[in-house]
Amino acid sequence: MSVCPDTAASLREISATLVEWYGRNRRELPWRETRDPYRIWISEVILQQTRVAQGLGYYLRFTGRFPDPAALAAAPEDEVLRLWQGLGYYSRARNLHAAARRIVREHGGRFPHTYPEVRALPGVGDYTAAAICSIAFGLPHATVDGNVYRVLSRLFDLALPVDEGRGRRAFASLAAELLDPRQPGMHNQALMEFGALHCVPSSPECIACPLAGRCLALAAGTVGERPVKRAKSTPIPRYFNYLHILWRGRTLLSRRGAGDIWNGLYEFPLIETGSPAGWDEVIRTPRFGEWFPGREEFRLLGATRMPPHQLSHRTIHACVWRLEIPGKELPAPLRAFVLTEGPGPGERAVPRLLDRYFETLG
Ligand code: ADE
Repeated sequence: MSVCPDTAASLREISATLVEWYGRNRRELPWRETRDPYRIWISEVILQQTRVAQGLGYYLRFTGRFPDPAALAAAPEDEVLRLWQGLGYYSRARNLHAAARRIVREHGGRFPHTYPEVRALPGVGDYTAAAICSIAFGLPHATVDGNVYRVLSRLFDLALPVDEGRGRRAFASLAAELLDPRQPGMHNQALMEFGALHCVPSSPECIACPLAGRCLALAAGTVGERPVKRAKSTPIPRYFNYLHILWRGRTLLSRRGAGDIWNGLYEFPLIETGSPAGWDEVIRTPRFGEWFPGREEFRLLGATRMPPHQLSHRTIHACVWRLEIPGKELPAPLRAFVLTEGPGPGERAVPRLLDRYFETLG
């Protein structure tokens, strides 16, 4: 079923206009100079995390250190996470690593060349598979990202919510109809780049738009209301009380496990509370009692309350309490933690929140 009021010929004209616009306005970027599916994959996953300006450095460092799937597969996970540090959503980095290992194991190190095989790689969803297959292999799969939702919802004045199943399906089939099968990679990149640079979320320059004559939202005066999103749920607050425990110039860390945020990253010993806690409350928690059965074993040096740290569904309110253990011996309950070589985390990957904390220490 077609959701699109336009004829095939006028859809071809829209695509041609976008591709022509792209030829004149595209940004020169290293992943646009290659058809290597591995590099395109890395760039697309990084761009799901961040803007081009920040992503560029990550892309160059990542592909410089891991130039092909075999190099990525051979690296220890800690090193992969370390190169990802600051981008957030570490599961994406872990999936890149797992997918590279699968490419080596099941495809002899050569990036797979069909849509089903690419889509089956860990962490590769519809968007990423379509981007890789259209750009690297010229396969006719439409990419639908936030920019595409915005452009299409305006061009066709569609009020279906883009964050609900029905809307997503409608936009996916519209994007597929609009796709030019003769140059799918060029078409997809033109549409996304047009959304990123011209058909921007607020105050787009509709007067100078090459598609102004065809834009139904412009005609209806609804550009500012497109795309439609259903109301956002409010993120759940969490309260983290971290203990930055210094012992002989070294720091205690532990590695987070699966099933919660920041899987595999390092952090300080953590006491999570249901509401913001002061020091007197922290030291009364059972966890603190387990770690410090005798009060004389530490000195409180200071505290840093971090600004709220926003994740997709959680807001982390963290306070770092800095303690020093003066004795020669580390108390037995604390010996289960990892001991760093110096006051910082060294080569271990830590959440961005703790990165910022270390920056405040100088
Ligand atoms: N945003 C994410 N990937 C892109 C691409 N390949 N071209 C343009 N914009 C993008």
